[in-house]
Amino acid sequence: MFVTVFLLLVTLCARGGYGEEREEAQRPGHVSVVIVGGTGDLAKKYLWQGFFQLYVNQVSSGNTFSFYSGGLSPTDKATPLFFEILKAVSCSKNLSQERCALLKEQFLRLSQYRQLKTLEDYQDLAKHIEKRLQEEGMTEAGRLFYLSVPAFAYADIADKINNSCRPAGGAWLRVVLEKPFGHDFRSAQVLASQLGSFLKDEEMYRIDHYLGKQVVSKILPFRTENKKFLDPIWNKHHIERVEIVLKETLDVKGRIPFYDQYGVIRDVLQNHLTEVMTLLTMRLPVNQSSSEEVIQNKLQIFSSLLPLGKNQAVIGQYQSYKSEVQQELNKTKDHVSLTPTFAAVLVHIDEAQYEGMPILLVSGKMLDERVGYARILFKNDIFCVQNHNSIHCKPKQIVFYFGHGNLQYPAILVSKNLFKPVLMDGEWKEVTEHNDVSVLGLPISDYYVQTPVEQREAYAELISHIFAGRKNSFISTESLLASWGLWTPLLSSLASSFPRIYPGGADNGALLDVHLKGKDISYKSEVVIISPDQMSGTSANSFQVMQGKFRSADMVSAWAEELVEQLAADVQEAAEAAIRERGVFHLALSGGSTPLALFHRLALHHFSFPWRDTHVWMVDERCLPLTELESNFYTLHNHLLQHVRIPYYNIHPMPVQLNHRLCVEEDGGAQLYEREVRKLVNGSSFDFVLLGVGFDGHTASLFPGTKVDELGESLVALTESPVKPHQRMSLTFSAINRAHKVALLVMGKGKHELITQLSRVKDNPDKWPVTGVKPVNGTLVWYIDYDALLG
Ligand code: BG6
Repeated sequence: MFVTVFLLLVTLCARGGYGEEREEAQRPGHVSVVIVGGTGDLAKKYLWQGFFQLYVNQVSSGNTFSFYSGGLSPTDKATPLFFEILKAVSCSKNLSQERCALLKEQFLRLSQYRQLKTLEDYQDLAKHIEKRLQEEGMTEAGRLFYLSVPAFAYADIADKINNSCRPAGGAWLRVVLEKPFGHDFRSAQVLASQLGSFLKDEEMYRIDHYLGKQVVSKILPFRTENKKFLDPIWNKHHIERVEIVLKETLDVKGRIPFYDQYGVIRDVLQNHLTEVMTLLTMRLPVNQSSSEEVIQNKLQIFSSLLPLGKNQAVIGQYQSYKSEVQQELNKTKDHVSLTPTFAAVLVHIDEAQYEGMPILLVSGKMLDERVGYARILFKNDIFCVQNHNSIHCKPKQIVFYFGHGNLQYPAILVSKNLFKPVLMDGEWKEVTEHNDVSVLGLPISDYYVQTPVEQREAYAELISHIFAGRKNSFISTESLLASWGLWTPLLSSLASSFPRIYPGGADNGALLDVHLKGKDISYKSEVVIISPDQMSGTSANSFQVMQGKFRSADMVSAWAEELVEQLAADVQEAAEAAIRERGVFHLALSGGSTPLALFHRLALHHFSFPWRDTHVWMVDERCLPLTELESNFYTLHNHLLQHVRIPYYNIHPMPVQLNHRLCVEEDGGAQLYEREVRKLVNGSSFDFVLLGVGFDGHTASLFPGTKVDELGESLVALTESPVKPHQRMSLTFSAINRAHKVALLVMGKGKHELITQLSRVKDNPDKWPVTGVKPVNGTLVWYIDYDALLG
């Protein structure tokens, strides 16, 4: 039977070499450490080593300790296993062998295994601790429970601790939890509220071991220390992009029952990479040791993140994952798992400082190398005429290098064309002698490099923070929920997406390379699937642009991209012709999402478009302030007008807001717009009107049931939509049908049914408003992509 001995170790004065604690536990006294799940993998690999280091560091601090490994197995069975684990702990290099042996022996004597299964087991443990305290006449400093068990057991154990193991007399209770903290926002909320009924927020320490990595924990201090260099450049004007990357070479064999439920986004991006992102972008706290301020600043960044949808992520799965799942989960050969083992996600922050600055989060298993880093790549506007090797021609970057990879050690690197950074506190040193390696495109000699004097395990760091009660190295309930709030909608939108399959390792080649385009991310290369059709050369892919008839009008059809190219070319041709004849081009554009592709095409490919002589009008508008995301003008401005050189007096938004109110008949907004059209547009005939068609057959904001006749000859009217916002302003058929050219653009598989119906129905503008589009002296062309046409 093992006997716990409390030792007051004041006579042992050497420090363990893991750095001085900057703060001491609140009140020296006796500390009981209990690892529930103390013979599990994590405890074996990191936790006991971490607690041994804590013990070594604290040995002369006036605190005393006892250590318990708790588990479900009976004591006689688990005790030998537990001591095998403890014997493997090691000392830092600067401790003599004798001293190390002595400390280890004491550590072993202070430790014991206890079965912790039932409430009685926890009550017995509490009695045991109290009895020892009494016998030794010790004051109690606190009790630390580390729950290294699956998350489903948390609530039950927290309940038992709360019931039986709370210390008395002002001593602290700290309960440490490991991820996963839920599976999505809802489950995280449920878990947080369950735990919240047993433990106070300040008693919970949720671990994200990335916050214990030496480089990660120096991100805020680095930003603060180098404020004078960073302040002018830490913004969208100077930063090209931020990349936060964790690449791994291993697969997840042996962890599939867990992993298949989670996948890389939940396992790594939601926690580790998100934490790093917040540290890089949050406002610097005035007082870094104020957990409250750090948490508030983190929350503020979360609240500014733009929502993530399908277009902000690509996912992949390594090839052999499927068979590993079949094996470990006993599934048949046709079982398919959609769990991603690779993901790249593009995040944007909606704040003036960072607006439009891409933040890329990437992680995956079975990649070519193991490496983790956060890289801030700055814009470089120097052009070197001759010597491209000179430092000022090279990438400007700061790299927080977490470890592994080419460099093999954690470091902060600042390219020499930026600035010489301040050396972090005494625990860091500058590296001046380098091996011949290169880091993210630059030889190491092109960087100022600093690294910790002594490398420490993240868990050991965090254990010392728990002991010191430093809460800002842990995940608060609020920031946990904020993070799930960001990731849950993306996870739901990806739930039935097929990940791209990759072979693993170097063979992945460029298969996982991504392309960042505005707010969207996609794989750089299309995976070419050769179908039998294509091989015979008759596939739809081999069609180019096709001309035909639809509802007795001209029709142009093609795959979406070519169709938009054609339409853009037709708009430009019409513009040039109008300007040749009349000196001006009047273009009326619809809202909705269909024209976006056209706007992009015009903005990015038609640099010779005669914008200077073009007037842009609105076909319709929602009765919203023009600054609202959903306003048609806002979309038009965002996707087209702000990117082209058009004189502002040539832009004609609809006056939906007059006298501080929206679309009120008496304010005469429609009449005002009509007067403007009549004054500027010759014969009120627009040169080109672009229209779309809604699922219900509406066009412009002329919906089924709109009393077209009542609108008479007016060119502009207030109308009602069946969907919100209900009030609209729209050009009428009188205006549309006077145009020289009208284009009706219809795209996407979702519109196939509509196109089929429209191909059959007679003209009936009351029921199918689009059938009322009949230019009197002009031409109508339908632009329908193959998806909408062929389904
Ligand atoms: C863990 C994940 O949290 O982090 C693992 O569950 C991942 O899947 C690990 O391998 C990466 O941590 P590190 O410290 O090796 O970068």
